[in-house]
Amino acid sequence: MRILVSGGAGFIGSHTTLQLIAAGHDAVVVDDFSRSKRSVLPRLEALAGRPIEVRVVDLTDRAATDELVAGGSFDAVIHFAGLKAVGESVEKPLDYYRVNIGSTLSLLSAMGRHGVARIVFSSSATVYGADAAVPMKEDLPTSATNPYGWTKVMQEQILRDAAVADPTLRVALLRYFNPVGAHASGTIGEDPSGIPNNLMPLIAQVAVGRRDRVLIYGDDYPTPDGTGRRDYLHVEDLAAGHVAALDRIGSVAAGVSTWNLGTGTPTSVKEMLDSFSRACGHELPVEVAPRRPGDIAESYADPSLAEAELGWRATRTIDQMCADTWRWQSSNPDGYPD
Ligand code: UD1
Repeated sequence: MRILVSGGAGFIGSHTTLQLIAAGHDAVVVDDFSRSKRSVLPRLEALAGRPIEVRVVDLTDRAATDELVAGGSFDAVIHFAGLKAVGESVEKPLDYYRVNIGSTLSLLSAMGRHGVARIVFSSSATVYGADAAVPMKEDLPTSATNPYGWTKVMQEQILRDAAVADPTLRVALLRYFNPVGAHASGTIGEDPSGIPNNLMPLIAQVAVGRRDRVLIYGDDYPTPDGTGRRDYLHVEDLAAGHVAALDRIGSVAAGVSTWNLGTGTPTSVKEMLDSFSRACGHELPVEVAPRRPGDIAESYADPSLAEAELGWRATRTIDQMCADTWRWQSSNPDGYPD
């Protein structure tokens, strides 16, 4: 298939682009490079062993998006593009609604006009809100606690409504838990702009000496060691989940399918720090700080639906996630060059 990968220069998008190519698909990256670097592209091409078509388009621009899709002969879209920093979304909610909702609307309209009937969407476990029981199952009600989370809830709803109106549309909503790790080559990985909000890139930057310590946000949670527990999954497992979802929505009846992508096993902040110390070969400076507002004690998937319907299961361990993250961070201490 010929697949348009929005946000294909980003962390999850770049790893998925490679796996699509490895699976025999033709992947076209569209990115505006507002949160990613162009220097990822030659590395992707080196890993793919072939040139990759890249289009620079702001997907909130409806006319430009229409032109992109009109001339593309695409069979499917994988839609990663969007803003994803929770704190920033609280400061700038309108930017989050404009960019995340706007890009999904332009893509869906263009797909409808030009006969592209398959879309795989990057959703998040954040749609389970603050009070969901663990392990989280796909049939839980959705809600959110911040504008970023609401954009995911709303984009899911927009996709469901679009599928009701267009009975030929096939939609996969993939609810990611906590993606971490990097390609085994160490040449592509996660490179957040500014101070990382998420635990793994922060740990990696402390390990490489770019930041002075890891703040543990709370050690008084009702968990075995008192620190928050999350369902971290390797980005290569996550990328494989997209390839599987794309195949699956081609073979089932049209409509919307929703799948959790996680391991089903929670890991605490302290356990993650221990594993990373083993990977990088030294202890990391840490300090216990108050809980971060909005955080929950535990979040982990029930991944059994994805296993049953996609034949997909995350197989890489926490130690592999840390080893691969360290290989990427230690060979690229400042991330991608400008
Ligand atoms: C966060 C977002 C979530 C988003 C997800 C993926 C918040 C409240 N939630 O999830 O909406 O979908 O990222 O981008 O931001 N921790 C520390 N020190 C740190 C950073 C994190 O102790 O410097 C702890 C947290 O308290 C948590 C765990 O590490 O227990 C994981 O945090 P993080 O990587 O930010 O992911 P989530 O909070 O699960």
